[in-house]
Amino acid sequence: MSSLLDRPLRTAILAAANNPLVRSGVSRYGMKLGAGRFVAGESIEEFMPVARETQRRGFAVAATLLGESVSDVDETRTVAAEYRALLEAFARENLDANVAFKLTHVGLDIDPELALENAATIAAVARETGNTFRMDMEQSRYVDRTLWIYRELRQRYGCAGFVLQSYLHRSETDLRATLALAPNLRIVKGAYLEPSTVAFAQKHEVDENYRRLVEIALSAEGYTAIATHDPAIVAFVTNLVASRGLPKRGRFEFQMLYGIAEPLAASLVRRGYRVRLSVPYGDFWFPYLMRRLAERPANLGFFLRHALRPR
Ligand code: FDA
Repeated sequence: MSSLLDRPLRTAILAAANNPLVRSGVSRYGMKLGAGRFVAGESIEEFMPVARETQRRGFAVAATLLGESVSDVDETRTVAAEYRALLEAFARENLDANVAFKLTHVGLDIDPELALENAATIAAVARETGNTFRMDMEQSRYVDRTLWIYRELRQRYGCAGFVLQSYLHRSETDLRATLALAPNLRIVKGAYLEPSTVAFAQKHEVDENYRRLVEIALSAEGYTAIATHDPAIVAFVTNLVASRGLPKRGRFEFQMLYGIAEPLAASLVRRGYRVRLSVPYGDFWFPYLMRRLAERPANLGFFLRHALRPR
């Protein structure tokens, strides 16, 4: 996907993210170096006050324990337990917050059945507590398995949600195939490097497909999260819902990432729209931060300014 950065620079940042030397050096100091702008601490104890404060500012919250590509079965179970604990904490405190997680964090790389089993334990608590959850969409090789798990959980628990990426050629077909389920869907542009055989290469194509997916999703039953910081897409959506006479809440919500484009998010709240901030936490923040840096050079400047500031 051509993004705000040229593809070579974006590729270089994402490659650095996978370099073990860079990883170990930065992860020692990174939270102090600026990651804290995008990540709500390293533990659930650090996360909860941020979630309360985010709600106080008028936003709903989606909690994410950072992590992906786990290859240890016990670790996947610990991750699922943490998500259940989050949902229980939200219910106890009556917080307007749900959870979003990656299936490779709960075992998709080990065995899809294990990921389904772990995700089902989260789904059970979400249903018990009257809540919802969404499963992020990762690289294109995971799409079929992710959609399979979504369908299983949708059937068993009802409250499951999933994500479609507008950079993928296949997403419109995937959307149309799930419309009969009145899906709980998040639409994003897509954050991974994908070949042009599966993904649109030009930003305008990705944006055009994003608008098409929104129009289709909002024409059917279900609930749609419009996850973007793009003011042009946001304006497209507010105009579309106004022209269709849809209410500002109840059928869709906007979603943005904690620490990014918050003035836009706040202005939407002031205008009466429902906005959820995705608030990540955990010690595995480095790849997450690298994806945000690859999306926007200004964030790189922010990170480096903090890195070079004497403490
Ligand atoms: P785009 O990158 O086209 O930029 C448009 C404008 O938005 C910019 O001009 C700028 O104004 C603003 N902007 C964008 N990024 C910014 C940044 N980092 N800092 C400051 N301003 C920025 N991806 C994925 O593959 N799978 C997933 O499951 C998810 N989940 C997800 C959840 C939520 C809540 C969000 C908001 C995003 C995701 N993503 C994701 C990431 C998504 O695919 C995409 O990479 C980013 O949202 C950036 O794309 P935008 O739509 O924001 O616009």
